[in-house]
Amino acid sequence: MAYEFKNLLVEVADGIAVVTINRPKSLNALNSETLAELDAAFAAIEADPEAKVLILTGSGEKSFVAGADISEMVNASAPEGRTMGLLARVAFKRLEDMEKPTIAAVNGFALGGGCEISMACDITLASDNAKFGQPEAGLGILPGFGGTQRLPRLTNKKIAKELIFGADIMISADEAMRIGLVNHVYPQAELMDEAKKLAKHFMLSSPYSIALAKQAINVGLDTDIDAGLKLEANLFGLSFATADKKEGMTCFLEKRMKERKFIGK
Ligand code: HXC
Repeated sequence: MAYEFKNLLVEVADGIAVVTINRPKSLNALNSETLAELDAAFAAIEADPEAKVLILTGSGEKSFVAGADISEMVNASAPEGRTMGLLARVAFKRLEDMEKPTIAAVNGFALGGGCEISMACDITLASDNAKFGQPEAGLGILPGFGGTQRLPRLTNKKIAKELIFGADIMISADEAMRIGLVNHVYPQAELMDEAKKLAKHFMLSSPYSIALAKQAINVGLDTDIDAGLKLEANLFGLSFATADKKEGMTCFLEKRMKERKFIGK
C-alpha cells in the first residue's frame, strides 16, 4: 500500500513499514502537523496486513528528531501548548500500544520529543553518532511528550532527574545503552540494515504471541506484580486457542521448525 504524507516518508516492503520523519531543514523537529501525520501513519500501519514490523527513523545523517518544533512553540499559548502535548500523547500511545513490534532507528540527535518518541518504541537501535537528551528545562518548559513518565520508568528516577534538570546534558549512544534507553549501537552506515535484520528476525515469531507478550509487558509494568502475573496467565491461556500455537508445537515435535508458518491467529 502507498502512503502520502507531507512531513513523513512511509514505505511498506517485505513486511517492514519504514516511517521516516522528513523535515531535514529543522533536523526533523516535530510540529503539530507532523504529530497528526504520525498518528495517522501509525493507525494505517496498525491496520495494514502487509506491515508486520514498524521501523521509525529520521531523514539525513545528522538527526533522528531534534525535539518539538521550537518555532511553533515560541508564540503558543498555554491551551495551544496543552493541545500539542495531547496530540503527541495520543500518537505516541498509539505507537506504544501497536500490536506489531516497533523499532526506533535513531540516526543522530534524539532530543526532547525525539528522545520521547524513541522511548515509545519497543526497541531502540542507535547509530554511533546519536545523542540523547531532554533539553526542555533550558527552554523554560518541561518534557511534555512523555519524558517525565517514560524516562524514569525506562532508566530510574535519579537518572531521569539528572537528564531533565541538566537540560543541556547530551549523552552518547553508548551511555544511552548503558542506562537502558538503547538496545544496540551500530555504525551509522549499518543502522538501517541492522534494524531490518532485527525486524525480519521478529517476523519468524508468531505475530499473535508478540502482540500478547507486548500487552503483558506494557500493561504489567504499569500495575502491581500480582495483577501482572494474573494478566500473563490469562494471555498465556489465550495463546492456546490459536492456530499459531498448534503450528509452532507441531512443527517442533515433527522436527521441521524451519518450515513453520504463522498466520497471527
Ligand atoms: C525548530 C529546530 C529545532 C527544533 C533544530 N532546529 N532543532 N527548529 N525546533 N527543535 C533548526 C535550527 O533552528 C536550524 O534552523 C536548523 O534546524 C539546524 O540546526 P542548528 O542549530 O543550526 O544545528 P547545530 O548547530 O548542528 O545544532 C544541532 C542541535 C540544535 C544541537 C540539535 O539544533 C538544537 O539544540 N536544537 C534544539 C534541540 C531542543 O532543544 N529540542 C527540544 C525541543 S522542546 P535554521 O533555520 O537556523 O537553519 C521539546 C519539547 C517536547 O522537544 C514537548 C513539548 C510539548
